Amino acid sequence: MRIRTIRLITFSPTGTTRRIADEIALGFQGESIERLDLTLPTAASASISTTTTDMAIIGAPVYGGRLPVEAVRRFKAINDKGTPAVLLVVYGNRAVEDALLELRDLASSCGFKPIAAAAFIGEHSFSSDHTPIAPNRPYTDDLVQAFRFGTEVRRKMQRQEFDLPQIPGNIPYRDHAKLPQTSAITIESACRKCRACLTACPTAAISIRDVIETNQKRCILCCACIKKCRHSARILPDAQIKQIAERLSATCREPKAPQTFY
Ligand SMILES: Cc1cc2nc3c(=O)[nH]c(=O)nc-3n(C[C@H](O)[C@H](O)[C@H](O)COP(=O)(O)O)c2cc1C
Repeated sequence: MRIRTIRLITFSPTGTTRRIADEIALGFQGESIERLDLTLPTAASASISTTTTDMAIIGAPVYGGRLPVEAVRRFKAINDKGTPAVLLVVYGNRAVEDALLELRDLASSCGFKPIAAAAFIGEHSFSSDHTPIAPNRPYTDDLVQAFRFGTEVRRKMQRQEFDLPQIPGNIPYRDHAKLPQTSAITIESACRKCRACLTACPTAAISIRDVIETNQKRCILCCACIKKCRHSARILPDAQIKQIAERLSATCREPKAPQTFY
């Protein structure tokens, strides 16, 4: 079976899911890759039908053992007609819980045919120099494994095998984590008004006028603005989030290994 086009569909505020999805796609060695990045607010309102691609890779991060609510909302706009799909969740070395199962059900409800799945590890969004949590992941070795996974799934497709093995998780899915209603904020004295935070924000929560304002109701705590700011002007000062980061930094030190199902 010749695999020509691969469609990469991702929601990835801090970029780790996108990096790993890219590597899986390279391992497939298809002739071309079409990207559908649903991370930015402009993608939120689109209604999307699949073009004729031979397979899809669908990737999202794990938030509280589930998929981010905003990612689910955006993926739901896709209307597919049976394209074989590889599912990818990326988590910050704590746990996947029900996110991969949720992605399987979501992809099926959009019309895809899930045939393989994987959970990889990316630097945790709440990771910082003070509270490192899976810093610098994915490592090179993670990317090599992602590439090999792509190659293996390609072989599976060439054998005309389209079944998805059992993947971990529970139904009903766990409740969404209750995080504080807060947001990242700007240290005005450090800010150069370069707008990198505004451009990176998946929910258009940041506005720049005389001062920089962040809409708490829109902020999904993804930390894209913090990671993109070259002047360390964006911070998440909430005490509860700091506590979570400290706890995770202490308890999630042992690097977990990627898991693949195909
Ligand atoms: C609100 C929130 C909740 C998260 N929950 C989890 C979790 O339950 N388990 C985990 O291991 N990592 C969790 N993470 C970390 C992300 O899954 C991880 O950083 C991932 O690499 C982010 O993907 P991205 O770079 O594609 O945005 C969470 C991150 C955020 C912002």
